[in-house]
Amino acid sequence: MIAVQFPAANAFEIAQVAQPVAQAGEVLITLKAAALNHRDVWIKKGQYMGLKYPCTPGSDGAGVVTAVGAGVSGSWIGKEVIINPSFNWGNKESAQSDQFTILGLPREGTCAEFITIPESQLELKPKALSWSEAAALPLAGLTAWRALKERAQLKSTDRVLVSGIGGGVALFALQFAVASGAEVWVTSSSLEKISKAISLGAKGGFLYTETGWVTHALKQTGAFDVIIDSAGGEGLNDLIDAVASGGKIVFYGATCGNPTSIALLKIFWRQISLLGTTMGSPSDWKAMIAFVETYSIKPVISNVFSLAEASDAFKLMEKGGQFGKIVLKIS
Ligand SMILES: NC(=O)c1ccc[n+]([C@@H]2O[C@H](COP(=O)([O-])OP(=O)(O)OC[C@H]3O[C@@H](n4cnc5c(N)ncnc54)[C@H](OP(=O)(O)O)[C@@H]3O)[C@@H](O)[C@H]2O)c1
Repeated sequence: MIAVQFPAANAFEIAQVAQPVAQAGEVLITLKAAALNHRDVWIKKGQYMGLKYPCTPGSDGAGVVTAVGAGVSGSWIGKEVIINPSFNWGNKESAQSDQFTILGLPREGTCAEFITIPESQLELKPKALSWSEAAALPLAGLTAWRALKERAQLKSTDRVLVSGIGGGVALFALQFAVASGAEVWVTSSSLEKISKAISLGAKGGFLYTETGWVTHALKQTGAFDVIIDSAGGEGLNDLIDAVASGGKIVFYGATCGNPTSIALLKIFWRQISLLGTTMGSPSDWKAMIAFVETYSIKPVISNVFSLAEASDAFKLMEKGGQFGKIVLKIS
């Protein structure tokens, strides 16, 4: 079969590799679409925990079950499915177990024509979603869901700020918060992306690239009850200024690294909660899928590439040119 392969850090190829065979408890999926996450870029660059090369990236996929391994019901064959990329969460809702892994390292990922997956990770594809939309949902949707609903305990009366709205997770956070009745604002490096966010229900937005954006935001809107961020870096201190006293900043990434200093005095004096989050539990997954179906949420697709054009898809994500998910159409 054809698959994207990283033979080593900073190396990329579309390779011919052996087609996997469903083992006991697994199914074989003929993939129709996969979607990229920033994680795939970190792995390509050699900047991720537990690297092993060669590897096929991809945590998000949708397709049709075409074979089952021992112990799996044949009734799965022909079913249209999506994959929960969060493996071995464990028994605690508050955090994942030590055995937790994410699809697409160490296990071979979805940027391929076929994949084998344990039956426990399967979910029927939401009927209203196209193949591209279905592939776009899992990792980013799950992460945004847990950040907002579990960690921030979002209320419909909250004023929310989602930073870096061009990102895949950020857009789901916007859509889920709007559907929950919250007042949502965004930040971006691009006015065009802010306009697109407004068309999805945001009240407005601010350019995080402009010095003093927080002062401007606080004048226009007042402080934010909940902030969802994945950039971190020096900008974290801006977010501490932007959050309301008693408010919550939930961060699911650190694209810009660690801040050189952090305003601890403001955090304790103003009763601010800094909350980390990663992916989600099986119950977060079920709740997210149900919410998407109930509120007819359509994942925002930025660009669709063929598997053969995967290199261009990675380049687009590396330069941050997207608004929403970057999808690979497979068959
Ligand atoms: N913990 C988890 O479970 C989890 C899950 C998913 C992702 N992540 C992490 O979260 C980050 C985003 O992932 P993704 O897949 O959503 O990435 P993505 O689709 O590539 O989005 C990245 C976005 O980050 C925004 N950004 C860049 N610099 C920024 C800054 N200084 N301030 C605010 N926003 C900034 C940009 O927004 P604009 O284009 O609007 O400027 C960009 O579109 C990555 O670091 C990823 O590894 C973690």
